[in-house]
Amino acid sequence: MSGSTRVSFIGGASGPWRVERIEAIAGAALPPVRFVDVVTVEPGAPKPPGEWVLTGATSNTRYTTRIETSALTAKQEPLGRSDATLAALIPIRKSPSWWSLAQDERRSIFEAQSRHIAIGLDYLPAIARRLHHARDLGEPFDFLTWFEFRPEDEADFDALVARLRDIPEWSFVEREVDIRLRRP
Ligand code: HEM
Repeated sequence: MSGSTRVSFIGGASGPWRVERIEAIAGAALPPVRFVDVVTVEPGAPKPPGEWVLTGATSNTRYTTRIETSALTAKQEPLGRSDATLAALIPIRKSPSWWSLAQDERRSIFEAQSRHIAIGLDYLPAIARRLHHARDLGEPFDFLTWFEFRPEDEADFDALVARLRDIPEWSFVEREVDIRLRRP
């Protein structure tokens, strides 16, 4: 038991999530598809078929302090809420200069300078989220970020991503694709 779940996001002709739009925020977009499926995969299993397949794995946290972890745990809601019919899949790759920083330098940019967690906490519990790490799997993105929310919280989610794209941490983002999804 590693405590890590490996997840593939499959863009193609079927799946529970209908694509509303795919927008390249930085770098190259992904090919257009009509649906996205989200499946749990075993390490070493063959890549499922699809127009594109992005795979990442949940992992331990890197940056959160005890106080932040407790604040997040107290406020966050799980994925799969029946009324959360909108989702966003936002794959992100950071630059080599980010990855060459030391851990304390990255934490300083992430929270002391950027307030990523403090900003994010403003949008809980409306936005449910899960972070998948893809960099060590040799994937084209470092992170696959996934969010679920109710239609009435979409404007808040848009405000959240606008705020985050303005913080110092985002100057290290060299590829970002914003994929918006809806399910019946
Ligand atoms: C990482 C919170 C929204 C992109 C993190 C981490 C936390 C967090 C606590 C650090 C995890 C760790 O310690 O390893 C939140 C909260 C949000 C939110 C509460 C509110 C919904 C977003 C959004 C995006 C995003 C909307 C994308 C547009 C990322 C990325 C990382 C991350 C890429 C990984 C950073 C790295 O390890 O270099 N987030 N976040 N987050 N978040 Fe957010």
